[in-house]
Amino acid sequence: MLHNMDFQERINEQIDENRSFIETDPYRLGYHLMPPVGLLNDPNGLIQFQGVFHVFFQWNPFETKHGRKFWGHYTSEDLIHWTLEPVALMPDSWYDKNGCYSGSAIEHEGTMYLFYTGNVKDENDVRSSYQSLAISEDGMNFEKKGPVLHLPEGYTPHFRDPKVWKEEDHWLMVLGAQNDQEQGEAVLARSPNLMDWEFIGPIAGSGMNSLGDFGYMWECPDLFQLDGTDVLIVCPQGLKAQGDDYQNLYQAGYFLGDFDPTEAEYTHGSFEEFDRGFDFYAPQTMLDEKGRRLLIGWMGITDDAEQNQPTIDSNWIHALTIPRVLEIKDGKLIQTAVPELQKLRGRSAEYEVVLEAGDAFSEEINACSEILIDFKNTAAGKVELEIRNDIRISYKDNRFVVERYQFSGTEREQRAFALDQLTGLQIFLDHSSMEIFINGGEEVFTCRYFPDPEDNTIALQAEKKMTLDIHHWPLNGGGSITF
Ligand code: FRU
Repeated sequence: MLHNMDFQERINEQIDENRSFIETDPYRLGYHLMPPVGLLNDPNGLIQFQGVFHVFFQWNPFETKHGRKFWGHYTSEDLIHWTLEPVALMPDSWYDKNGCYSGSAIEHEGTMYLFYTGNVKDENDVRSSYQSLAISEDGMNFEKKGPVLHLPEGYTPHFRDPKVWKEEDHWLMVLGAQNDQEQGEAVLARSPNLMDWEFIGPIAGSGMNSLGDFGYMWECPDLFQLDGTDVLIVCPQGLKAQGDDYQNLYQAGYFLGDFDPTEAEYTHGSFEEFDRGFDFYAPQTMLDEKGRRLLIGWMGITDDAEQNQPTIDSNWIHALTIPRVLEIKDGKLIQTAVPELQKLRGRSAEYEVVLEAGDAFSEEINACSEILIDFKNTAAGKVELEIRNDIRISYKDNRFVVERYQFSGTEREQRAFALDQLTGLQIFLDHSSMEIFINGGEEVFTCRYFPDPEDNTIALQAEKKMTLDIHHWPLNGGGSITF
């Protein structure tokens, strides 16, 4: 088994050896968190600790495949300048030797506590999982304390991703689980002191709360109060596609409901997808010092197409989304981009476009751009926006459709959903990603795409005469990601 310093040295070597590939990769992202080498997946341990934002992430620094995960670590004071720090957690203990899996961070009396899942596989590939703790006084050096919660009766070792928060005089942990009947659940544990944890039981799951069959495993739960509503985030695996819904291999969504911490009961409404795009999974939230509920997701998903991403040629894969602010408005969850990103804006271009029927309006933009479009009369007929000759966004007859080229080959694929009206789009483009906030954050659409790096054209076209306001900025002015 390698000791910590050996691992960190090997990782530093990996980063240095691959720096030039990654820096010259046209798909390297400009303002999104990505791995300096290797594979990144879930955001972990989001916290603002002593004023500094910490974003940890699932990281396999040695391969562009899933495998033995470390906790990578970025910090920032302003959500736009980010620095890669030494690895926070390494899979070098008996209880996490096959991966320090996802988890969360909290602060208590000036100390940072990280809760994560130690993943262990024996020689026959049989899994065990240990919910483990590491603590830090400075937010940089972490001391492992070992397992704090063992697998309860009635559950398979697919039991992971602890998210911890404080509830009056005790602490609660929500975890993703699979019960012995192979149904996905979100389960709770409680602690008086962060060290001793007692298992309580499920609060939601497949077959509970009139959900019916709702997947064989739930990953990465999060539970928090937002504007008086209790939001439970879960990522169910095993839902079948239904019309426009559940089109990705796994889902990331939420319930709005009522959580009673004394009885440990949760009643909730229907499951809603967080994001309508191809690439969004395992989101996590945090409360910042301004009292905002911020969310960051993994701008990727584990599926068959994953290994066709072209950045693998430069020895890296995947990225995190930009941070979003969550709010409840008129009983609906609304997501908006954090306003800090406005500091990335360069010189703005702003004008009104009058599209005649069938006419196309096109323009060169920066590969890193923010585009705001206000529509006045989308009921008139189809409107279509093409981005860098790859993505095609269209709206007609209350249907919003996004198409892109698949990661390999020349086939196109699409996702669609019903939308009563289209009033506005806010689009964040990076070299190989797009996030669209629709109608002020009523819906969000996130995906990766790999266009011809030389092609920076956007084109608008309408079926009938249409007037719209466009405002766009090159991004990447005031921020930086250093690794
Ligand atoms: C979600 C997930 C988590 C797990 C982690 C391992 O993407 O499968 O459930 O903790 O990734 O990297």
